[in-house]
Amino acid sequence: MKNFIYYFGLCMVLSLLLPVQAQKFDNLAKTPQMGWNSWNTFSVNINEQLIKEMADIFVNLGLNSVGYEYILLDDGWMDMQRDKDGNLVPHPDKFPNGIKAVADYVHSKGLKLGLYNCAGTKTCAGYPGSRGHEYQDALKYAEWGVDYLKYDWCNTGELNPKEAYITMRDALYAAGRPILFSICEWGDNQPWQWAQDVGHSWRISGDITACFDCIEHHEEGDWNSWGVMKILNMRDNNMLRKSAGIGHWNDMDMMEVGNGTLTFHENQSHFALWAMLNSPLVLGNDLRTMSSDVLGIITNKDIIALNQDTLGLQGFKYTTLGTIEIWAKPLSNGAWAFCFLNHSENLAELNFDWNNVTIKDELFGYEVIFNKNNVFKIKDLFVGKNIGNTKTPLKAILGKNQVLVVRVDK
Ligand code: GLA
Repeated sequence: MKNFIYYFGLCMVLSLLLPVQAQKFDNLAKTPQMGWNSWNTFSVNINEQLIKEMADIFVNLGLNSVGYEYILLDDGWMDMQRDKDGNLVPHPDKFPNGIKAVADYVHSKGLKLGLYNCAGTKTCAGYPGSRGHEYQDALKYAEWGVDYLKYDWCNTGELNPKEAYITMRDALYAAGRPILFSICEWGDNQPWQWAQDVGHSWRISGDITACFDCIEHHEEGDWNSWGVMKILNMRDNNMLRKSAGIGHWNDMDMMEVGNGTLTFHENQSHFALWAMLNSPLVLGNDLRTMSSDVLGIITNKDIIALNQDTLGLQGFKYTTLGTIEIWAKPLSNGAWAFCFLNHSENLAELNFDWNNVTIKDELFGYEVIFNKNNVFKIKDLFVGKNIGNTKTPLKAILGKNQVLVVRVDK
């Protein structure tokens, strides 16, 4: 008994002396985060007026009613220098009323605000990075009412990535305001191996560019940006999907739906694939000028529901038939989604006989068998109609880079 009292007392004293165990904020990104980010369209050319307009149109178009939530300011929101006390300063011309005013405006619309910074000494566009100022910056974000931090990896020298991201995670946690932590180190240091408890999502690739299957080389700086298919195939999908789950997602980068050379079908395919892969759904187009076609794609509730399904399982490639890739995704309540992607310049004829097909998700132990005793209803999610059941083969003509996305339910 004496021993018990001694050890109990010792534990109590130690627990008072030891600092609170830092962690990432729970209950954020239980499904992949959804929002809009400034970078793909505006680069560093952002300002208070633009962000307010984006928040207005966001709500007017009803993006919030289909699940989009965050307005994210990427690189370029800061002044070139910190102040004399080492604080980050919003760019005085672009954000004359500071970030708190923007956050208040965004919050008044029922939305949330995100900022960007970098683990290095400078951001990728040359603004002050957080290195050596992590706790100070986290306090500022909390004071301003920020809800999301994208944290980049430029100018990091010999920094250890895991340590650097843990430092910022701990700083955010210590600042006390729940802030979603979006890791952006491009997959260079295998974040899928160490970031589950560090961030809520991690980028798996270098920057996206607005084409379906190209690589764009940037002479200055000698780096590449990547089209949709290049990102899709950049890593082993099984390796990625095994680490993702509720509260921590593989981030395939901000979307280019509605941008660049992407056709209507390619926009659909891009959106559907990001949904199937449980990537954060972060729009990167100009919401004020997008076409009704693009609006229809990004607000398709059935496609969004695949991404936001509470089972939280990333889709996988089941097989390829000719030029048609078949991606599968187990959903809650025994439903499944299938995305038939014709990755080709030419038309392709899909004729998929479900009968006696067994699809297994080996990693997570899900399986579906289609036969005459196990018949599923089929819904075409882009057309928005039920198209029969799995008793008869699924037939379609798919154009260049076109998808057919179906959900099968009992
Ligand atoms: C990096 C990131 C991009 C963007 C820019 C900003 O390239 O990967 O997503 O944030 O920096 O400079």
